[in-house]
Amino acid sequence: MKVFYTKTALNAYLDAHKKDKQIGFVPTMGALHEGHLSLLRKCNEENEISVVSIFVNPTQFDNPTDLMKYPKTFQQDTTLLEHAQCDVLFAPDIKEIYAENITANSFDFDGLEHEMEGKFRTGHFDGVGTVVKRLFEIVAPNKAYFGEKDFQQLQIVRKMTEKEQLPVKIKGCEIYREENGLAMSSRNSRLTEAQLQAAPFIFKTLQEVKVKFREEPPNTILKWVKNEFEKQSLLTLEYFTIADEKTLKNISTKKEKTQYRAFIAVFAGEIRLIDNIQV
Ligand code: PAF
Repeated sequence: MKVFYTKTALNAYLDAHKKDKQIGFVPTMGALHEGHLSLLRKCNEENEISVVSIFVNPTQFDNPTDLMKYPKTFQQDTTLLEHAQCDVLFAPDIKEIYAENITANSFDFDGLEHEMEGKFRTGHFDGVGTVVKRLFEIVAPNKAYFGEKDFQQLQIVRKMTEKEQLPVKIKGCEIYREENGLAMSSRNSRLTEAQLQAAPFIFKTLQEVKVKFREEPPNTILKWVKNEFEKQSLLTLEYFTIADEKTLKNISTKKEKTQYRAFIAVFAGEIRLIDNIQV
């Protein structure tokens, strides 16, 4: 695996291969786990060169403590990537991406940014849009891979790519879970043993929601979810919503030929966990 820290070095390498090879890209913030590696495997299947980036992007953190405490495991990440047959690791420092101006641009994602996470994490999606666009410009991949755990992020990246006519195909990949159902996340490594035992309740609830959605209206389900979480001592519900997959707007009644998804955000202590399920 080649490791590059600067745009110039990365471009010198990629430029030599771009003409005749498909380049796949998996952007990450490091602290890699099986979920990231599943994106890389898909990327390897569909491309001749796989590029993974590791960059903890400050402009997408609305909470400075979350940024400070974001797990950093660079040595372990490089070993995992080597074993998973990553061709190129791009690990820029902050200056490579932001020069002296560490601020986000503002984007219009046609309202997707105001739903769910957007209501609780001010400026988060402008930060994501800024860094993803810059990384796309630097790497210039044919395809880029994003996990469905951050489903709103995936839809927002799709929207940005379409609106800005960026020449990259966005591929969404299924959520990768622990055996007990907990969605894999870099933040899981910060959970205590007791929180780790409690957290699978999130997915268990989503699975029950999926069954209930066949018969019950969204509002009744919302009340049930709130009630279930009130009984949990280690988990606090931040939001639960059932929304149209395209618009991400929450719904009160179902329509024909529309795909819905249930979304949830929960705190275990100060660790924020999100998950979703197609219903
Ligand atoms: O999903 C993530 O890890 C980040 O939001 C991303 C896409 C790498 C941008 O910083």
